[in-house]
Formats: sequence, structure tokens, C-alpha cells
Amino acid sequence: MSKQRVLTGITTTGTPHLGNYVGAIRPAIAASERADVQSFYFLADFHALIKCHDPVLVHQSTREIAATWLALGLDTDNAIFYRQSDVPEIPELCWMLTCMAAKGLMNRAHAYKASVDANVAAGDDADFGITMGLYSYPILMAADILMFNANKVPVGKDQIQHIEMARDIAARFNHHYGEHFVLPEALVDDNVAVLQGLDGRKMSKSYGNTIPLFLPEKQLKKSINKIVTNLLEPGQPKDADTSTVFQIWQAFATPQQTADMRQAFADGIAWGEAKKQLFELINNQVGEAREKYEALLANPAHIEEVLQVGAEKARAHSKPLLEKVRAAVGIKKIH
Ligand code: TRP
Repeated sequence: MSKQRVLTGITTTGTPHLGNYVGAIRPAIAASERADVQSFYFLADFHALIKCHDPVLVHQSTREIAATWLALGLDTDNAIFYRQSDVPEIPELCWMLTCMAAKGLMNRAHAYKASVDANVAAGDDADFGITMGLYSYPILMAADILMFNANKVPVGKDQIQHIEMARDIAARFNHHYGEHFVLPEALVDDNVAVLQGLDGRKMSKSYGNTIPLFLPEKQLKKSINKIVTNLLEPGQPKDADTSTVFQIWQAFATPQQTADMRQAFADGIAWGEAKKQLFELINNQVGEAREKYEALLANPAHIEEVLQVGAEKARAHSKPLLEKVRAAVGIKKIH
């Protein structure tokens, strides 16, 4: 039986935080170790240009995210790990799909609609600040996925619509030009925790409430100390289920450790003590990877080498598929 193809992209804006680790990176690395799965994980740097027009930040984020995945032990002999922009077949396929994608479909994309709504609410022109990149973002994402005939695409809930659009576009292409693409499915894992951030809302770069994954030890401690709690004194029972400290604890702890911490909350553990233990738990789990991360960032040439090997493996798939797709649409040598 051929292996299931699992593919996902990570937009290269920002520095990975605990929420990215728990919600995406950790489960993806675990999935890549399964024998029945061929995983494709890539740095979506073309997608980064949609949100970020600062070249220094895009480049820095690409380096940091690549180093993060490698430091956490992604086995690149097993998973195909590459940078989107190293696979020129992707933007080419994107154009062919653009010519088959309905404009009306793009009008319905949440990310685009949210920007229009914000403009209208602010009394601006509906198209204010909206680039064609944002508008056709779902088509680039479809190209990423269809290029490798992925079966499953692990994503957050906010991305489900994009996978449905990729299916739609693929079906339309297949219907017109013949069966070239697998129809992908979104894989949303409800068991994976969505971490809360410092202020108790979802941990997200857009809220500025994140705890970066590889902060130096001292800063990690400081950051954890900033998690918002309430005014309950040591000795007063505390509610584990509404506590961000407990929620993050649970994402890193064994079931036994979680049960013990729940008891400690009921027994009135001091916030300072709970945070100290949380720091130790996280620090023990990421300490070794943090050293690797720092070593990798000190040797960027090695990161680049790994990505080049990944690009070659990716292109072994993308080149022949694109060749077929080109011929199917009538782009081929004259004979
Ligand atoms: N748009 C996705 C995000 O912001 C990242 C992404 C780009 C992606 N291409 C993809 C995810 C293809 C899955 C498959 O999270």
C-alpha cells in the first residue's frame, strides 16, 4: 500500500512560540515518525509576503522556523522538509490554477472578507490596503497542496475553508483537463491543545501575548511570571480549569503530573510556586532543543544545506507532475 501523504506549511512570519509548538510542531514531528505516512513540511515564505513587507523579518523568521523544526528533532531523512520558494514549480502551478479558480470563490475567503469588513467598519474604501496577494492567497495554498498530491493537510480550524477551496479548484481542473490532482482533506485534531497566552486569550502573535519557545532560561522564567492570575493568596484553593498556568502545565505534563497539579491547586498552591514549577517543567523539556537551536543559528550554512537537500527531494515530485500538467493545458514543445 502506498503511504498517506501528509502536507503542511508554516508561514515564515514571527518567532515560534509555545502555542505553535504544542498545537502544530510537536504533533507534526510525531506524525512524521509513522511508517505509513510520507510527510511534506515546508516553510511558506511566499505566503509570508502577504502579511509582511519587511525583508529582514521574513528572512529572520525563515531561519528561526527552520532551526526550530530541526532542533526539535524533525528527521529530514524521513520527512521532506523544504522551503516553498525553492520549488519553482509551485508558483507556476499557482498560475495554472489561478486560471481555473472562480473569482467568486475567492470573494468568499474569510481572510479577505475580514479585511473588507474592517475597511467598511472604519469607513474606508472596501479595497483599502488589500493586495492581490491576500486576495488570491487560497490559490497559492492550493498549489502547495496539489503539487504533491497530499491526502491530508493538518491545519487549524481557521484554515479548513482553504482546504475546501483547494478541493474545489482541483476538482474543476480535473474535470476539464483530466485526473491530475488528488482531492485533499483537512485534518483538524481536536485533541491538540490550543494554548492560552499571557493574558488568557489564545496564544497568538497578533495578540502580543506569546511565550517564545526558545527564550533563554532567565527570560523564559520572567515570561512565565507574567502570566495573568488572580489575587488569591497562598493557601486559598484555586480553580485549575480557569487558570492559564494550569492549562499550559497540562500541555507539557504527564497525566500523573496533571492530576498532582490539580490537587495542588485545590490545596491552595501559591501562584509563585505554580509558576516556578511550570518553568521547570517546560525548561526541562525544551532545554536540550534550545541548545541545538542556538548551535544551528550559529551555523546557518548547515540549515541552508538541509533545505537544499529537501528542495531536491521535493522537486523529484513536483517536476514530473508539473510536466504532465503543462502538457495537459497545451503548454509543450512544438512538434
Ligand atoms: N496558510 C497557512 C497558515 O497561515 C500556511 C500554509 C501555506 C499552508 N500553504 C499551506 C498550510 C499548505 C497547509 C497547506 O497557517
